[in-house]
Amino acid sequence: MSWSLRQGGKEAGASRILFTIKRDVGRVVITFIFLNFPSYKYKDSLMNILVVGSGGREHAIALAVKKSPLCDTLVCAPGNPGMANLGKCVPVDVADPKAIADLAVTEGIDLAVIGPEIPLVAGVVDEFRRRGLRAFGPTAAAAALEGSKAFSKEIMKKYGVPTAAFETFTDLASAKKFLACHPAPIVVKASGLAAGKGAIVCMTDKEANDAVEEMLGDKAVFGESGKTVVIEEFMDGEEASIFVVCDGKDYVILSSAQDHKRVFDDDKGPNTGGMGAYSPAPVVTDALLDEVKKTIIEPTLKGMAAEGKPYTGVLYVGIMVTAKGPKVVEYNCRLGDPECQIVLPLYDGDVLALFDAAEKGELAKLNAPKATKGSSAIVVLASAGYPGSYEKGKVVTGIEEAEKNGAQVLHAGTKMVDGKLVTNGGRVFGVVGHGETLKAALDIAYEAAEKVQFEGKFYRKDIGKKGLARLAKMGK
Ligand code: AMP
Ligand code: GLY
Repeated sequence: MSWSLRQGGKEAGASRILFTIKRDVGRVVITFIFLNFPSYKYKDSLMNILVVGSGGREHAIALAVKKSPLCDTLVCAPGNPGMANLGKCVPVDVADPKAIADLAVTEGIDLAVIGPEIPLVAGVVDEFRRRGLRAFGPTAAAAALEGSKAFSKEIMKKYGVPTAAFETFTDLASAKKFLACHPAPIVVKASGLAAGKGAIVCMTDKEANDAVEEMLGDKAVFGESGKTVVIEEFMDGEEASIFVVCDGKDYVILSSAQDHKRVFDDDKGPNTGGMGAYSPAPVVTDALLDEVKKTIIEPTLKGMAAEGKPYTGVLYVGIMVTAKGPKVVEYNCRLGDPECQIVLPLYDGDVLALFDAAEKGELAKLNAPKATKGSSAIVVLASAGYPGSYEKGKVVTGIEEAEKNGAQVLHAGTKMVDGKLVTNGGRVFGVVGHGETLKAALDIAYEAAEKVQFEGKFYRKDIGKKGLARLAKMGK
C-alpha cells in the first residue's frame, strides 16, 4: 500500500512534473504565437512603395508614405535630392507607362503612387493592372477628367454638375462666330494637357480672338492640346480646391486649399505653377462642403461609374464659389502642387493605408478620420526671373537651420552637383509650416523661408492673406 502509495506518489509526482512541463511549454508556445501573431500579420501587410514624380508634391507624398508603419522600402522615380533622404531614387521617364511598370517589377513594388498627371493620362494605371501590378491613381479613361476638358465638361453637363456654360470647337471659323455673339469677359481653354497654361481668361474681345487663333489658327502654339477648344462663361467668385480620395464608388475628403497662382503679391504678374497655398480654406465652410459633396463630388463619381469609367485615385475639384453656389472650374486627376504638400499632413490618419484601401476599392472598410488637424501653409521659394527664364546652379544653404522651428523644406527644383545642393528649377523649394491656426502655420513657414538661402531667391509675402481676412470676418 505504502509502496503502491509511494509508487502512486512517484507516478503522480512524475506525471505532475510532466504536466507542469507540458503546461509551461504550452504556455510559452501559446505566448510566443500570441505575441508574434500581430507582427506576422503586420509583416504580411508591409509594402514596398514606388512614388513616381520629382517635385515638391512627390516629396510630400514620399514623406507621408515613409511615416506609415505599412511602408517597407521606398523607391522614388525619378525622385529629387529631398526624396533621396527617404528612399532609393531611380531614373525613369515619367511619360512612359511601360518603363514605370518595368521598374515596379524590378524593384518588387507592392503599390505605386503616381504623382503627376502625365503618366496617369498616358495610362500608367492601366499598364499596371494589365500586368497584375497595383498603382494608386485613375485609369486613362478616368484621368480624362483632366486630360480632356471637352470630356469633363460633357460629363458635368450629362450628370448635372454645376459649372460654367460652354461650347466646344474644333475649327477656327465656328469659334470666332461664337465669340462674335458672346462678348468678353470669357474664358478660352485648350482641351488637352497644357501644363497649367491652357486656360486663358479673356477680359477683352481681342484677347478672346487671339486666344482661339493661338489654339485653332494657322500659327497655333498649343499643339495637339489646343486642337479642341472649350469656350466658357466667365465665373466671378473666390476659388478653392477640394481633394477627394476615391475608390470607384466611395470617397474620403482630404482638406480644402487655396493656391496662389500669380507670381507677385496681390495676385499680380503672370501665372505660375503655384507660389504658395494654405489649408484648410476658410471659404470652404462645412455647409459649402456639404453642397459640394451633393452637387459635385457624388454626381461626378456616380456619373463616371455609369460611364464604365469608375474613378479611383485623387480627384482634385477646383471650384469657384459664386453668388449662385459652388461651380466646377476644373477637375484634375491627381493631388495639386503645391496643395498636396499642405493637405497630406493635415490628414489625421495613415496616408498609405488610405491610398492602399482606395486602390483595393475598400474605402468603406477603412474608418478614415472625419476631421483634419490644424492648419498648414506653404511658401514657394523661386528663382529670379521665374516664370520666365531664370538661372540654375545656385548653391543652397540654410535648410537645417530653417527646419529647426518645425518647418519642412520640400524640394521642387534642386539637384546635387559635386556633393553640393544647387538650384535646378523655377520653383526651388516649398517651405511648409503647420500650426493650430492659419496664422501660426504661416509664421512658421515664413520664418523658415527667410533662412533658406540661394542667389536670386524670391517669394510672395502675402500667402494666406485672403484666408486670414476671411477668418477675421468670420470672427475666428
Ligand atoms: P483651369 O486650367 O481650367 O483650372 O483654369 C486655370 C485658371 O483660370 C483657374 O484657376 C481660374 O483662375 C481661371 N478660370 C478658369 N475657368 C474660369 C472661368 N470659367 N471663369 C473664371 N475664371 C476661370
Ligand atoms: N496647384 C495647381 C495644380 O496643381 O494644378
